[in-house]
Amino acid sequence: MRQSLVVGNWKMNGSIQSNQSLLDSLKQNIGSIQHAEMAVCPPFVYLQQARQLLENTVIGWGAQNISHQNPGAFTGELAATMLVDFGCKYVIVGHSERRNLYGESDERVAEKFAKAQSARLIPILCVGELLEEREAGEMENVVKRQLDAVINLQGVASLAKSVIAYEPVWAIGTGKTATPQQAQEVHAFIRGRIAEQDAGVAENLQILYGGSVKGSNAAELFTMPDIDGGLIGGASLKADEFLTICQAAR
Ligand code: 13P
Repeated sequence: MRQSLVVGNWKMNGSIQSNQSLLDSLKQNIGSIQHAEMAVCPPFVYLQQARQLLENTVIGWGAQNISHQNPGAFTGELAATMLVDFGCKYVIVGHSERRNLYGESDERVAEKFAKAQSARLIPILCVGELLEEREAGEMENVVKRQLDAVINLQGVASLAKSVIAYEPVWAIGTGKTATPQQAQEVHAFIRGRIAEQDAGVAENLQILYGGSVKGSNAAELFTMPDIDGGLIGGASLKADEFLTICQAAR
């Protein structure tokens, strides 16, 4: 049985004050609901704050990005080992904003995935197509290419210690959620593609959906057989919305 997981990707949002009130509110209310496994990914500079507020709670934390290098002369970068120092469990790799705004290639994302695993972090590998790729009928090819870059570098067995997030780029921050059927179709494709190489890995892999998930549409998405939770952007910044989503994923 796969456990459901809901992860909040705060992106470049937050302040010491707003993080405190968000995390306090999550902690205060979490006890009164049944919820999926949960984590938040704040900006790097707030990881220590997350650790202080979340240690010994059921809420885990992680980072949004990582360097593909070992520690050294790489100004402005952060190594996997540093994230471990701050108690991170997860790190997001290959978010479409990193791929599209910062030019991260499939190969670079695969290197980041490898670095995360070498430090025993759980990479949350994001895959997903642009609107024009979907309209051109390229959706499966794009997702396959993004997935294969990791499998080619690290082997299919490496996916056993990872999470995959399908995030159609056209649904991110647009309010335009994929329908449960559209999302399920791609999730099943991803699982099927991995099952061709290792059925056991495919069966146990958590595949999250991301893209305009809210309290009001989460339950419907999470009833789909291959959707194991969500990677949540905007709605993870509001305690009540995020908790509703975590409850729906249970
Ligand atoms: P939104 O939930 O704001 O659409 O963002 C999704 C996302 O990119 C999560 O990583």
